[in-house]
Amino acid sequence: MIYLDNAATSWPKPEIVYTTMDEFLRTKGGNPSRGSHSLALAARETVEETRRLIARFINAPESKRVIFTLNCTDALNLGLKGLLKPGDHVITDSIGHNSLVRPLKKLESQGVRVTRIPPSPETGVLSVKDIEAAITKDTRLLVVTHASNVTGVIQPVEDYGAIVRRHQVLFMVDAAQTAGKYPIDVEASNIDLLAFSGHKGLFGPPGTGVLYISDHAELDSIREGGTGSYSEQEEQPVNLPDRFESGTLNSVGIAGLGAGLKFILGEGLDKIMTHEQSLTNRLIDGLGKISGVTVYAARNRAQQAPVVSFNIKEYTPGDVGTILDQAFDTKVRTGLHCSPAMHKTLGTFPQGTVRISLSYLNIAEDIEMTLQAVERISVSRDFSNSGRSMR
Ligand SMILES: Cc1ncc(COP(=O)(O)O)c(C=O)c1O
Repeated sequence: MIYLDNAATSWPKPEIVYTTMDEFLRTKGGNPSRGSHSLALAARETVEETRRLIARFINAPESKRVIFTLNCTDALNLGLKGLLKPGDHVITDSIGHNSLVRPLKKLESQGVRVTRIPPSPETGVLSVKDIEAAITKDTRLLVVTHASNVTGVIQPVEDYGAIVRRHQVLFMVDAAQTAGKYPIDVEASNIDLLAFSGHKGLFGPPGTGVLYISDHAELDSIREGGTGSYSEQEEQPVNLPDRFESGTLNSVGIAGLGAGLKFILGEGLDKIMTHEQSLTNRLIDGLGKISGVTVYAARNRAQQAPVVSFNIKEYTPGDVGTILDQAFDTKVRTGLHCSPAMHKTLGTFPQGTVRISLSYLNIAEDIEMTLQAVERISVSRDFSNSGRSMR
């Protein structure tokens, strides 16, 4: 089997993630921050160790600014809804995932004003000038997608961070497709809110995500409840991370996320990037040589995350995905990938694309076999009569 749907969730996980989670549940399964018996303390130490590792990984000044969430969607909701009030103005891109688009739509219906900036049709990158021109006296936040989950184009967040800081606008980044795959330094890039999944590039299990909050961003909680702290008071505590972590945490998931991060630190991000870039380059070059195939990717390979879309002439993306799965045991994602706006920009709406997304655990042979499969589909009439249409 060849798994190429790592942008949705990475699989398989490194062995250490499985063993750590198994061991955690068997030996440390207390409720972190609830009680002072040894199992609760062991669970808490594991959670805090992961928090420290993440803080170090993104260069956060304090680990308490790392908030555990359910996934990247949850982190985006917390950042946006915790910050924005009616009358605020937000600047965003027009390539975002629905987990960014939909909370913003909701906030728009409540009186937040949103300006959406399209990327350059040639490079897929947002222009710093367009962003700066959109800033008004009411602009509270710039929120961008670090890498598109359709084309893999990486945006230059350091450049955007420099601009918004000059204008005293807060800066939020959706790093769902880059965390664990590309260096992110929240201090150097002036990022105030960084949202990412734990279950994609960081190799944690599903049900894990993170929001980093800088000391410039004053957020309200959007969910209140027990935190295991200040139990005598009825109001939500204001200290971090408790303010934003009500209810029992996904401690076993956070243990797995910590193990995923240790794996990444052990291998080294440079080695991971080099391997993924080499596979991605081979994939883009190979797809580009197959007749009838259109590739959607970054023009500049230095701005390419390991996510690539394509279509094959005369086939719907759904048909290609089904054939790859059933005839070649190869798992890809097809359709809109929850990013309709990106497809409108690419001209692939409403059918979408076939998406291949890689992980460090993919090997060169996965790419060669997939290229052969795509080539066979593109030249064969047999498959085009499959009559399936899935989206
Ligand atoms: C760019 C982007 N943002 C946000 C998300 C949502 O991530 P999660 O599934 O962790 O909520 C995804 C998921 O694919 C994504 O690609």
